[in-house]
Amino acid sequence: MSTAAEHYERHLGPVYVWMTGGAEAGLRAGSAEIEALGLPAVRGAVVLDLGAGFGTHAIPLARRGARVTAIDSSAELLRTLTELCGDLPIRAVNDDLLAFQAHLVEAPSAILCMGDTITHLPNFGSVEELVERAAAHLAPDGVFVVSFRDYSVPLRGEQRFIPVRSDAARILTCFLEYDPEAVLVHDIIHERTSDGWDTRVSHYRKLRLSPERLTDCIQRNGFNVRREADMRGMVRLVAQRVLAAPSSSIAEERNGAGVT
Ligand SMILES: C[S@@+](CC[C@H](N)C(=O)[O-])C[C@H]1O[C@@H](n2cnc3c(N)ncnc32)[C@H](O)[C@@H]1O
Repeated sequence: MSTAAEHYERHLGPVYVWMTGGAEAGLRAGSAEIEALGLPAVRGAVVLDLGAGFGTHAIPLARRGARVTAIDSSAELLRTLTELCGDLPIRAVNDDLLAFQAHLVEAPSAILCMGDTITHLPNFGSVEELVERAAAHLAPDGVFVVSFRDYSVPLRGEQRFIPVRSDAARILTCFLEYDPEAVLVHDIIHERTSDGWDTRVSHYRKLRLSPERLTDCIQRNGFNVRREADMRGMVRLVAQRVLAAPSSSIAEERNGAGVT
C-alpha cells in the first residue's frame, strides 16, 4: 500500500487533470462550487485552500479577488496549478496540510479543505488536529469548509467497482475494499500502447469519516455547522464561527448552534 503522497506522486498525479475531464472542466466545476458556497467576494481576502490539487477552487477564488495560499503534498499538481494560474494572487506551497499554520501571514477569512481531501488524513486524531488548528487560526468571522465522500456505509459486491473516466487511450477504474476505519482505494489505470494495453494498479487508504462525527467535532470547536450535498455527490460542511456575544445573549446564541 502507498501513502497518499506516494500514490499521487507515482500513480494518480500524472492523470489527475485528465480524470477530472481536463483543466477547463475542472475549473468550471470548482467555480460553480465556490458560487454555490456563497462566500462574500471580498477583494484581498486571505483564503487557505488545503489539498488544493491543481487549483480547482483556488483559481476561481483568486479570480474573485481573494489572495489564496494553496497547500498540497503533490509537487506535480502544484506545478499544474502554477501553470494555470498565471498572474493570479496564489501562493503554491508544497507541504502537508496539517502544517498550514507555518505558511500563514495573516488570519484567513476562509479555510477550505474540499474535494475529499480530509479523508486522506491518517486517522480521526489528525482530523481533530486539523479542526482545532482551523479554529485557532481563522479570522474571528471566518468560515471553515470541508467537503468529502461519506464512506461510512460500505458499497457491496460489484458496486465497489467504480468507472471514473475512459476514452480511446485510457481507462480509470476505482475498486474499494473496506476495513473498520478505512477504505482501501485501488486506482486501476489501463493505457493504450503500441503493443496493446498497459495496466497499472496502486492503492492507498482513505478514512471512513462519518458526517455526524465530523460535525460534532467542528461544533465542539466553536462553530455553527450547515450541512449540504455538493455537485459531486459529496457531503459539504460549512462551519461559521459562533461569535462571542455579550453575556446576556450567550444562552440564546448556544440555542442557535447546530446542524441545519
Ligand atoms: C482528491 S484531491 C482534491 C483536490 C482539490 N481540492 C479538488 O477539490 O479538486 C486531494 C488532494 O489532496 C492532496 N493531499 C492529500 N493528502 C494531503 C496532505 N496530507 N497534505 C497536503 N495535501 C494532501 C493530494 O495531493 C490531492 O491534490
